[in-house]
Amino acid sequence: MSESSKPRHGLSVGLTNYGDPDFALYLRRSFVRSMGYSLDMMSRPVIGIADTYSGFNNCHRGVPELVEAVKRGVLAAGGLPLTFPTVSLGEVFLSPTSLMFRNLMAMDTEEMIRAQPMDGVVLIGGCDKTVPAQLMGAVSANRPAINLVTGPMMTSRWHGERLGACTDCRRFWAKYRAGEVSNDEIQDIEGNLATTQGTCAVMGTASTMASIAETLGMILPGTAAIPAVHADRLRAAEATGRAAMRLALEKITPDKIVTPKSVENAIRVLMAIGGSTNAVLHLTAVAGRAGIDIDMKHLNEISDSTPVLVDLKPTGPHYMEDLFAAGGIGAVLRELKPLLNLDCLTVAGETLGERLERPMGPVDRDVIKPLSEPLLPYGGLVSLFGSLAPKGAIFKRSAADPNLFEREGRAVVFNSLEDLSARIDDPDLDVTPDDFLVLQNAGPLSPSGMPEAGYLPIPGKLARAGIKDMVRISDARMSGTAYGSIVLHVTPDAASGGPLAKVRNGDRIRLSVKERRIDLLVAEDELARRPTSAPPVPERGYAQLYRREILQADRGCDFNFLRKQPLGEGRV
Ligand code: FES
Repeated sequence: MSESSKPRHGLSVGLTNYGDPDFALYLRRSFVRSMGYSLDMMSRPVIGIADTYSGFNNCHRGVPELVEAVKRGVLAAGGLPLTFPTVSLGEVFLSPTSLMFRNLMAMDTEEMIRAQPMDGVVLIGGCDKTVPAQLMGAVSANRPAINLVTGPMMTSRWHGERLGACTDCRRFWAKYRAGEVSNDEIQDIEGNLATTQGTCAVMGTASTMASIAETLGMILPGTAAIPAVHADRLRAAEATGRAAMRLALEKITPDKIVTPKSVENAIRVLMAIGGSTNAVLHLTAVAGRAGIDIDMKHLNEISDSTPVLVDLKPTGPHYMEDLFAAGGIGAVLRELKPLLNLDCLTVAGETLGERLERPMGPVDRDVIKPLSEPLLPYGGLVSLFGSLAPKGAIFKRSAADPNLFEREGRAVVFNSLEDLSARIDDPDLDVTPDDFLVLQNAGPLSPSGMPEAGYLPIPGKLARAGIKDMVRISDARMSGTAYGSIVLHVTPDAASGGPLAKVRNGDRIRLSVKERRIDLLVAEDELARRPTSAPPVPERGYAQLYRREILQADRGCDFNFLRKQPLGEGRV
């Protein structure tokens, strides 16, 4: 039998095509031998490990240690671990915004899984966009895959107060803007906000996506909340390596794990943890890779039937390390058990129901409330519809002032991020606390690529007068660590000519969270007279691809051609 006709796994699969498979295998093996591997190692199943360490990603500082622990697990289970680099996205290092590069990382991840000879893959991620990008890539490549998150940072102390990135970053910056914190103090605080490796310490996007990955079944049970510096994190990495081998041998692929039922579970947990608004985009994109469309009206139904159970910042006083000590996402899932689809398979090789049948450790009720006594009787996020957002907008009701939920206000419009930064602190800005701040051209199709700019600062003169919250509306996103009465992801966005582009200073806007509506109270004939203009198409490269293919927020801002079922002509 020629080499090419033998059953294939590991380094024998996916050969380079020279028109002679036996030669291709012989060449590959000789080059693998140049790396010093024994014949025993070369005959084993291969587990790829996506190494996302980067000097531009503080949240992934611990990845090298995790890689070593994963390798241990793979070797112990009889496999050959081989690392490979992919794009890594450090949230605060990317311009104009990390979201613009999430799809690039997803493409990189998908293509490298598919192009290289691996029987299974471990995807190590953590910082905001990395976990969704890896989930998107894994679902599309559909080879046995398991995620491993880097874990959250520990908190620090400043003048006796606990500090953790990044709700406290914003809280103290707001105080600084209001003149309540001095120059020296803000510098001191800056040095104490993020003091360990790992992802942001609160229920921001990274923690939310880790929780969602655990609920979907794509990371090992009990591993979402383990702090980055805890020894359990390394044990989880070793176990992930072993699990990857089992997935590879049993050929358990992501399409068996990411299903309509597990996606519904993930939405429910998103609501129960008071998770980040960004997660709606990311989960929509991940689901789209599996051919699952998330209906924003169904999201509202799930929100209305799912209480908030987890009391973490930005809505509560606690941090991720407290959630870990309190019982982790497993304890949340156990509370939600009557509401979950229990027959969903996980990367542990068991169903969610089987997982939840195991005995439960103690639960700290300060952090994780029982289903019978929730923090809030309904979920943290709702989608709004109306004449200002015909295809929807997102509002985080668990992180907002209920006094602002039912209001009509006068629009104070900023037509770009540049306009916002130029005028927001102008003492002559015509603005009152009852006005609605409106930011245009910060959506997916805008040159800024939908940054986390939806948390518009309170105008300087109002901040100094003690105003802490106002209604703010935009097509931008908001950091999962932020708090405020903020309408986000207005769809269609202004750059694509949506109604948001037509708002003018002085227009009246009505917000009703109860009715799930956001309406621009301007007559249609008047709106028809107001011009809009599309931004120029970039001349080359990824920016041009991005502009051509990016979908709106209701489709998760994925590229159309990467969806399992691309949308037809005339899509928005
Ligand atoms: Fe990486 Fe917040 S900056 S998770």
